[in-house]
Amino acid sequence: MAALDQPAYIYDLDDIALRFHAMNNAFAGARHTIHYAMKANSNAAILRHLCALGAGVDTVSGGEIARALAAGVPADRIIFSGVAKTHQEIQRALTARIKQINVESPQELLRIADIARQLGMVANVAFRLNPNVNPKTHPYITTGFRDNKFGMDESFMPELSGILADSSKFLRLRGLTMHIGSLLFDLEVFREAIEKVIAVHDTFKAQGHALDRLDIGGGLGVDYDNADTAREFELIAEYGRMVIQATRGLDVELLTEPGRVLVARAGVLVGRVQYIKATAQKTFAILDTGMHHLIRPALYGATHRILPLIQGTGQQIMYDIVGPICESSDFLAKGVSLPQLKQGDCIAIADAGAYGFAMASQYNSHELPAEIMVAAGRVLVCE
Ligand code: LLP
Repeated sequence: MAALDQPAYIYDLDDIALRFHAMNNAFAGARHTIHYAMKANSNAAILRHLCALGAGVDTVSGGEIARALAAGVPADRIIFSGVAKTHQEIQRALTARIKQINVESPQELLRIADIARQLGMVANVAFRLNPNVNPKTHPYITTGFRDNKFGMDESFMPELSGILADSSKFLRLRGLTMHIGSLLFDLEVFREAIEKVIAVHDTFKAQGHALDRLDIGGGLGVDYDNADTAREFELIAEYGRMVIQATRGLDVELLTEPGRVLVARAGVLVGRVQYIKATAQKTFAILDTGMHHLIRPALYGATHRILPLIQGTGQQIMYDIVGPICESSDFLAKGVSLPQLKQGDCIAIADAGAYGFAMASQYNSHELPAEIMVAAGRVLVCE
């Protein structure tokens, strides 16, 4: 492989496959479809790879639907979530005949009914409930608590039933959906939310709607501070067991929308040390990559393991790993102890496969990083 002359994300497709299979095995015995939340990483090669393994996708914009279709994901494996779907996006989703639209408000349902009427189609919809649980994660990534803009609580249900009745020729309620947050480890919070959703599911069933799906969203976490892969696979298995147990007796297809847990570990961001600068307070390793390529540390105070790609024997030094952006929030790690670095050394920022490139920007008019795929130890695609 040629030496890297620019920052790059490198992804291991085999690792993604392992996790996909672990998730599928966790649900063996249930009717279950994984809808990969492609907001985590919408690289076309990753979409093609997951699709070939049997995954569908969860999308949140017309752009994601277009990317999924272009990558060959069949329309009937595409779910459309998101709080602010525009007229054009809904029209496009219906025309493409995607699997289901996850509805976030009564006004959205009215808009869908209207567009379906104009197109002479039946829209398959699911209602996103806000189960009001506190999933104990970073406040920016909780979504199923009463303060959040996402989903609808039970007080919305009579209005939704009314709209369904008025537009029964154009709307078909396929099920309910939830997504309570991201980076979650507490399975009891998931269980509590699922139980609340099932109570509403039963109410709609009693009203005569033939709900045949239950979408429990994504959210399972990975531990960014420790690479305990065995524990992670155990958590995936426990999650599957819990969901199967909590939904026993429901005659539905279970849908999940995992993002991070499938792709986070599979990616690293590699940058090169441009300068070492020691001040009276700190030693900075200044890289050619930073918050514009991986914004998680700046945005959430997230930690990513730092792996220097050097033959490190020298003394350990405490570094702040920073980037080229003209902001003091432009850091990738603070106070990490590493073997002595020098100009030109490469550094990998670990576990960056999810919400890395997907959230990257060209701030300060820097280039986006490259993306490189590896499978079976070989470089496959350089995009
Ligand atoms: N389904 C829906 C409706 C979602 O909104 C999300 C993520 C997922 C599924 C997938 O969640 P996951 O399995 O990846 O936790 N940028 C943040 C994460 C934001 C997650 C937003 N929604 C981060 O870097 O931590």
